[in-house]
Amino acid sequence: MAVDHSNDLLVITCASGKQGSHLLPHLDKKWKRLRLVLNSSSSKERLEKAHPDADVVRADMLSAADCSRILQDASAVVYVGPSFHPREKECGLAMVDAAVAEEKKGKFQHFVFSSVCCTQLRKLLNHDCKRFVDEALMESGLNYTILQPSHFMDNTPVAMLMQQDDRYFPTGLNPAIKFSYTALRDMAEATAVVLEQREKHYFATYPIISTMPTAESELLAILGDAMGKRIRVEQKPLEEALAGLFKFLYGEKDVNPLILDGAERLLLYYNRRGLYGNPSVLEMLLGRKATSCEEWARIVVSK
Ligand SMILES: NC(=O)c1ccc[n+]([C@@H]2O[C@H](COP(=O)([O-])OP(=O)(O)OC[C@H]3O[C@@H](n4cnc5c(N)ncnc54)[C@H](OP(=O)(O)O)[C@@H]3O)[C@@H](O)[C@H]2O)c1
Repeated sequence: MAVDHSNDLLVITCASGKQGSHLLPHLDKKWKRLRLVLNSSSSKERLEKAHPDADVVRADMLSAADCSRILQDASAVVYVGPSFHPREKECGLAMVDAAVAEEKKGKFQHFVFSSVCCTQLRKLLNHDCKRFVDEALMESGLNYTILQPSHFMDNTPVAMLMQQDDRYFPTGLNPAIKFSYTALRDMAEATAVVLEQREKHYFATYPIISTMPTAESELLAILGDAMGKRIRVEQKPLEEALAGLFKFLYGEKDVNPLILDGAERLLLYYNRRGLYGNPSVLEMLLGRKATSCEEWARIVVSK
């Protein structure tokens, strides 16, 4: 029989991000004690309003002291690392160290790491950072589960496309190159299952992949069908694609060169090779079919 962990303190990092926003609705009713970790005062204010019973705290994942503070008295953590952080590897290693120290106090039970699929691909710097965190967890003595999602289909700017008369998507990627996509809703449900069933998933590494390799142009054609209008897609030159990405992420601020390195390699690699994976493990974990591009498109258009 499954053990009830719902009275345990569960910590979610990057709780204000895309993954957190999809995960929290699965946890709100089941977990009585949630600590939601984020970085900015605006996100803190937003989450305090949306989750009045949770302990909402600000932290910098690069700070070892902050990592220890947010894990205090916790039984489990879902560690999502900050996107394009110039010291992403160090953030992850600091969290693993903090969890090891917390586990010695007796309460801490489970470290769930939201990693990325194919951490073996060392040319992708952000994948490589997560490979070190995977390794540190495997050698930490902690009970861990590693979840490895692919490129999220939800990165597609659906709201922007819905507002346009002329549905035009200038993409940073070669639209003919194939990706195995992950739907955030599948990632969220898989994370919730692993948290709830806890012991069953100790020492497991699961690729969380929703689709077989699919070109972005196919995904956009399916989305266009669901919207009732064709989406015209065009690849932006690399420099323009990078500038657009940074403007979206950082506004007018100067971007750390380490972040530039990661983003440039990501686009160059993706445009040559894409990212391939297989949904079978996710489907076993969820006990249902993974979200197809068609199902995802129907859901996002009807929102
Ligand atoms: N995008 C994809 O297709 C994809 C696919 C697989 C894996 N991933 C990985 O997913 C992770 C990001 O998750 P996400 O997409 O859910 O996040 P996201 O939507 O990009 O949001 C970023 C999150 O990071 C927090 N944050 C930023 N700097 C921080 C710091 N120094 N310390 C603590 N928190 C900080 C932000 O908090 P505030 O809101 O307070 O700023 C926010 O919660 C990354 O590791 C990325 O590599 C992404």
